[in-house]
Amino acid sequence: MPEPFVIDNREDSLFQVHREVFTSPEIFERERELIFGPAWLYAGHESELPRRNDFRTRDVGGRPVIFTRDRHGEVRVLLNTCLHRGASLCRHPAGNAKIFTCFYHGWAYRNSGELVNVPSVEDYAGAPTDVYRTLPAPRVESYRGFYFVNFSGDAPDLRTWLGTSAYLLDLAVDQSEDGIEILPGTHSYTLQANWKLLVENSVDGYHAKSVHHTYFEMMMELGQTPPMLGDSDTNGVPPAGLGTEFGNGHATLMYPGNGLPLANEAVTHNLAALRSRAVERFGESYATAVFDLARNTIFFPNFVLIDLNFGMILRTITPLGPDRTQVSSWQLTPRGLDEESLRYRIDNALTFWGPAGLATPDDVEALEQAQRGFGARREMPWSDISKGMGKARPAANDELQMRAWWRQWNAVMTGEPLPREVEEFIPFDVPVQQPQGA
Ligand code: FES
Ligand SMILES: [Fe+2]
Repeated sequence: MPEPFVIDNREDSLFQVHREVFTSPEIFERERELIFGPAWLYAGHESELPRRNDFRTRDVGGRPVIFTRDRHGEVRVLLNTCLHRGASLCRHPAGNAKIFTCFYHGWAYRNSGELVNVPSVEDYAGAPTDVYRTLPAPRVESYRGFYFVNFSGDAPDLRTWLGTSAYLLDLAVDQSEDGIEILPGTHSYTLQANWKLLVENSVDGYHAKSVHHTYFEMMMELGQTPPMLGDSDTNGVPPAGLGTEFGNGHATLMYPGNGLPLANEAVTHNLAALRSRAVERFGESYATAVFDLARNTIFFPNFVLIDLNFGMILRTITPLGPDRTQVSSWQLTPRGLDEESLRYRIDNALTFWGPAGLATPDDVEALEQAQRGFGARREMPWSDISKGMGKARPAANDELQMRAWWRQWNAVMTGEPLPREVEEFIPFDVPVQQPQGA
């Protein structure tokens, strides 16, 4: 393994990451244990389980889980593996069930985890229902409808772990007095590239103009001002935006959005009404942050929330191997939108992030090209992430947010903490009436 993984040279404002960390099977194994063991990992959103006994199966941090609302209404995360010999308890992507019966030998579990039936139980000296009783239950905590799971025993509570970065979840939830919901469907894809490349890319403002120039050109042809090209502040955020770190590896970039491209009059009117109601509830400053600032946020280690104002997505990034990554992405929208505004948001989000959109396929190509480049890692071992280092207030197209994430990664992997680069900063007044709890 390379030593060190990361060079954080404050004197010369140089930050480098060893390319071996994107290719080494040993590091991949260590990440499984050290990164995806103790961290709070995003599991799902409350709107995905509207009724009792609803469930969704998915992988969280490499573990197969059932994300479910039990018969009492409590949200749980069950390990989707049988106590008997390990088969999946549930093989459906989603549904409604009180009991999960393993298809292999028929052991049956309540959706709260208790083992309740074992065929031919009389053949056992001690009944497995008494010996094992229940599936081990990982910790589950939520913040404003976002559910996270933790597979280790000694993590701090979720709210402490999120720290100030929780306000980025607030900015999403507060778009409607009724909160937000996940739209049906998952955009699921794999990359032939290391998962950390997509983490970097998810908060990379630098690549937008080169990789996504087709989108920028389309915007300009439509008479729109693309983000980061405007000429006035939004809520104190300069046109070039800013990068911010929050501790624990959570970080964001924010920049004045580009309004509502392609919106017709009715949609513009309806979405403006949503904004006015937020002004009444929270005041102008916070409503401006909610509706007029675009933002890309990484919650360490692998949960991304991107809000470009015309649409909003969540993304989880799961390593399958050193050079193979599974991505799951969902669209989020304010609850209670009229049909036309909803259609507008879906169309815009698909135009940008969809499987044939103007952003995602190009990003995938960039990351796979980088992974290919790492074939020459012995001759060229270092990647550079120094842009904007040493600035008191780095811009959105600088790389502070990536460095913040890498410092946390390095601290977890090596035990060596690296001091943060800038003070925490949020450019909007947090309203006093802001709900703070789960
Ligand atoms: S593996 Fe589940 S019942 Fe045998
Ligand atoms: Fe991109």
